[in-house]
Amino acid sequence: MADSIKVFAPASVGNSCVGFDVLGFAVEKPGDELLLRKTEKPGVVIKSIAGDNGQLSTNPTKNTATIAIDAFLKDFGRETGLEVELFKNMPFGSGLGSSAASAVAGAFAANELFGQPYPIEKVLEFAMEGEFFASGAHHADNVAPCLYGGMTLIRSNSPFDVIKIPVPSDLWVVLLYPEVEIKTSEARSLLPYEIPLKTASKQWGNVAGFIAGFMSNDKALISRSMKDYVAEPYRSRLIPGFNECKKSAMDAGAMGFSISGSGPTMFAFCTSEESALEIGKAMSVYYIENKIGHQLFISQINQCGPKVL
Ligand code: HSE
Repeated sequence: MADSIKVFAPASVGNSCVGFDVLGFAVEKPGDELLLRKTEKPGVVIKSIAGDNGQLSTNPTKNTATIAIDAFLKDFGRETGLEVELFKNMPFGSGLGSSAASAVAGAFAANELFGQPYPIEKVLEFAMEGEFFASGAHHADNVAPCLYGGMTLIRSNSPFDVIKIPVPSDLWVVLLYPEVEIKTSEARSLLPYEIPLKTASKQWGNVAGFIAGFMSNDKALISRSMKDYVAEPYRSRLIPGFNECKKSAMDAGAMGFSISGSGPTMFAFCTSEESALEIGKAMSVYYIENKIGHQLFISQINQCGPKVL
């Protein structure tokens, strides 16, 4: 068995518009890389973190990757030493599931390094321990798509019941991250505690339509189901240029548009790479004109989750 392994784990889009806390999908890029190496001295240590501008702690009890690895080791019952090199290739606090990507990279790498002793359902639980540290919440709408790939429905968190939804093969995603930080906890505290039955009914009509659209490759149905009444109306005001960016994307032909997770990243669905490039250009205009730093990612949906490099 090898003494080290390097893995990639993708960014993900929590909520996917209408599925607050229960839907999420993974993208091909960006994503984190993690190298895990066996060492003599028992315990998990972080040897280095690159790409974080020195912002992440190298204390293994404060990093989602090492918390997930530690959860794995405790269950596995091995007195092994492990060291981690983490390569952060995506912004954090951005709504792209950065903490989930690191947690999945850690749990997945450990499971691979020791010969896959656990099924994916158990790897999900280890990764969720890391995610819980980062967000304090038990929603799996970043960890599940990051680990399973594709579009995932988390029907239940306790016990976990994750269902993979088929994705049209020609679906492209544009992600625009305006460089402002939004804390998930703050973005959650803005949401109403209760929802009127009439609104809830409209929402679950759209959730069902969205899933039915994915299952039957009906893009018009996906498109008309992408109206969120639960999170977007409250959170969009935290995002500079949200309304302008959404209008530009829809005018340029996007299938649908919403906030990625708790923001500030926004995403648009498109039906080809060419249209994704056009829509990405249109979405950037507001940020260029207003000199707001931003990053643009254009990607297909990641179908397979993390991978060994
Ligand atoms: N479902 C979560 C939220 C995703 O919207 O708060 C962010 O991690």
